[in-house]
Amino acid sequence: MADPEKAGNGSSRENPKYESATVLEMEGVGFRYPGTPHDAVDGVDLRVEEGEFVVLVGPNGSGKSTLCRLASGLLLPSRGRIRAFGLDTAEEDLLPTIRSQCSLVLQNPDHQLLASTVREDVAFGLSRLGLEMEEIRERVDEVLAFLGIDSLADRDPLTLSMGERKKVALAGALVRRPRLLISDESTGMLDPASREEIMEALISWKERSGAALLHATHREEEVAMADRAILLNGGRAVFTGRPMELFDLEEARELGLAPPPLVELARELARRGHPLSTPRWSFHRIADSLSALVGHDDGGQGS
Ligand SMILES: Nc1ncnc2c1ncn2[C@@H]1O[C@H](COP(=O)(O)OP(=O)(O)O)[C@@H](O)[C@H]1O
Ligand SMILES: [Mg+2]
Repeated sequence: MADPEKAGNGSSRENPKYESATVLEMEGVGFRYPGTPHDAVDGVDLRVEEGEFVVLVGPNGSGKSTLCRLASGLLLPSRGRIRAFGLDTAEEDLLPTIRSQCSLVLQNPDHQLLASTVREDVAFGLSRLGLEMEEIRERVDEVLAFLGIDSLADRDPLTLSMGERKKVALAGALVRRPRLLISDESTGMLDPASREEIMEALISWKERSGAALLHATHREEEVAMADRAILLNGGRAVFTGRPMELFDLEEARELGLAPPPLVELARELARRGHPLSTPRWSFHRIADSLSALVGHDDGGQGS
């Protein structure tokens, strides 16, 4: 990929599983929590296509979590319209279908872990989908292997580290094979290396499955990884576009968002005539690109 500004792009329009390319559509969506004086979400228009990675970014209280709950059909809009997979969330009969095709991952995994072993916990997400035991076992094994936590299958989730518990919660979301994965600050409460692991898992899952990813965050480095960014402020979507354009926006700077160091580094290198071939804005990917640039790519073993 020659254009580093397009990093993270990976559509799968041709995926035959899905008949409709638009996974989520919001038109003029507003939401106010009962008894509060302001709209938490105020007139948001938004579209997420299959295979797309869209990031919701904005300061605390800007409406990210509310938008995630609206997108997953947990909250219904006070005004405007939401369609998920072409189905209107205002139609009560359709809500079970909509919810069965969305998974929501939250910041605190302990709000999502229920069973006494990892395997049972992950399988729990499938209990209401009416699958055979055999298929449940296959799906659980597959997702545990994908996330590299198969060795934890018989452990009690509560004895695991935060990073491991996050992966178990994520496994419970992915095992349902959603068409839309909504991640509400799922990288919160982690150290940088573990955050990057979760982001890599989210993105590679998205690329394998052809599903869509809507990820709420306030971290610039995660914004950089997305195909498209939506900046929220006071419940309004004040910008929608490519992450690199967002970083150059006056309003984003005022809200404390700046290009992350990796992006600054890549831009400076490009200015000096050494554009990086960056498949993704992660520390390890950039390290790979830099190694390739200086001509001794030792696969990260160091010397
Ligand atoms: N359960 C709730 N009841 C009342 N107000 C809420 C509730 N959850 C969020 N809010 C308010 O809605 C607004 C948006 O919050 P939220 O969606 O949590 O934003 P973010 O996730 O970006 O921090 C804030 O003003 C917040 O105080
Ligand atoms: Mg939030």
